Amino acid sequence: METYEQILVLGIGLDTKFDEISLLTTHKVYAIDLEETAIKAIYAEAHLETKVKIVRGNLVDLEESSVLDRLIAEGFDPNKSTFVIWEGGTFYLSASEVMKTLLYLKRTINITRFAGDFLNANVFHDKNHELKEMIEQVLTILKRSGNEWKGFFDERELKEFFFEKCSLKKIEMRMHGEVEASLYKEVVVIPDLIFFIECF
Ligand SMILES: C[S@@+](CC[C@H](N)C(=O)[O-])C[C@H]1O[C@@H](n2cnc3c(N)ncnc32)[C@H](O)[C@@H]1O
Repeated sequence: METYEQILVLGIGLDTKFDEISLLTTHKVYAIDLEETAIKAIYAEAHLETKVKIVRGNLVDLEESSVLDRLIAEGFDPNKSTFVIWEGGTFYLSASEVMKTLLYLKRTINITRFAGDFLNANVFHDKNHELKEMIEQVLTILKRSGNEWKGFFDERELKEFFFEKCSLKKIEMRMHGEVEASLYKEVVVIPDLIFFIECF
């Protein structure tokens, strides 16, 4: 069932599905990304166009910025029912920053659907995890590269957050391994490393 009139993507990067997948191409799509200039330069260099209206913004301090005004100037309507998508990006903010951002959007726009992925705190905080050493190495490499992973989430807390604070009542959660197993013969990534959430 369709529950939205427009889409807002947080941290869109070079995700092209909004120009490709028929379910999404019929909607107006807006996006916020820190790297708006670089993303547009890559599209220009590749002689590609996107229908997505991308505005520059830091998801850490949306409330203190004029990002919403810039989205509105591009045609975004805060009153229209909106599907917010945050994929591959909650990792770069702390859990409290992610929740602050979602609460700000909840207050200022009309969110009727949300989809996103989240790093599982249980894996990252498990001192006895069988792959602890590798996980620590990956975190160190990411930190050194300037792309530190900071957002680790507890499944239950996040579910409560969407229920109680965001008033989204139907929540579907799936572990990465479950999705991977349905697509490929073997699961390569730690099965419970990331979970996907969709709420409406
Ligand atoms: C790993 S990419 C994911 C891109 C896309 N969502 C996808 O799934 O392919 C993360 C994106 O989030 C953006 N990003 C990271 N931190 C951000 C922040 N604080 N504010 C806005 N965008 C941010 C990056 O510029 C990058 O484009």
